[in-house]
Amino acid sequence: MNIDLTQVDAIVARVGTDANLTIPVLQEVQEAFRYIPLEAIERIAATTDMTESQLYGVATFYAQFRLAPVGEQIIKVCHGTACHVGGAEGLTESLETRLGIRNGENTPDMKYTLEAVACVGCCSLAPVVMVGERTFGSLDRRKAAAIVDELEERKDAK
Ligand code: FES
Repeated sequence: MNIDLTQVDAIVARVGTDANLTIPVLQEVQEAFRYIPLEAIERIAATTDMTESQLYGVATFYAQFRLAPVGEQIIKVCHGTACHVGGAEGLTESLETRLGIRNGENTPDMKYTLEAVACVGCCSLAPVVMVGERTFGSLDRRKAAAIVDELEERKDAK
């Protein structure tokens, strides 16, 4: 995938070129592209004191960084213990059907990514789905699929 390297250059110009700025530079790259493209790592290594292996090391070590593209919205289905007991598997299945993708995939239009995650810290609301900062609790299959309907309506209303 070709990316706009001028965006990467602008981030480096803003954040800095020092080798100890790896994390903030990668954070900004991810914010700009929603993941860390290979081309961005190569460009940063070519224009700063950071090496490719250092950048890869950090990008693969921290769970916050993604090396593959994701959709505009990530639908996270909690599969922690409380949510698992509460039917998380059924929520994932329902969302897979609604979105036409499998867990871990992006929709072809790159609007959504479906992702099973570990406990998101609100077990009293189990089973839980998170989209961005929003938490949807006490879900069943139907309510889980309805989250996508709501997200679609919000888009249409914009
Ligand atoms: S197990 Fe799902 S929020 Fe804790």
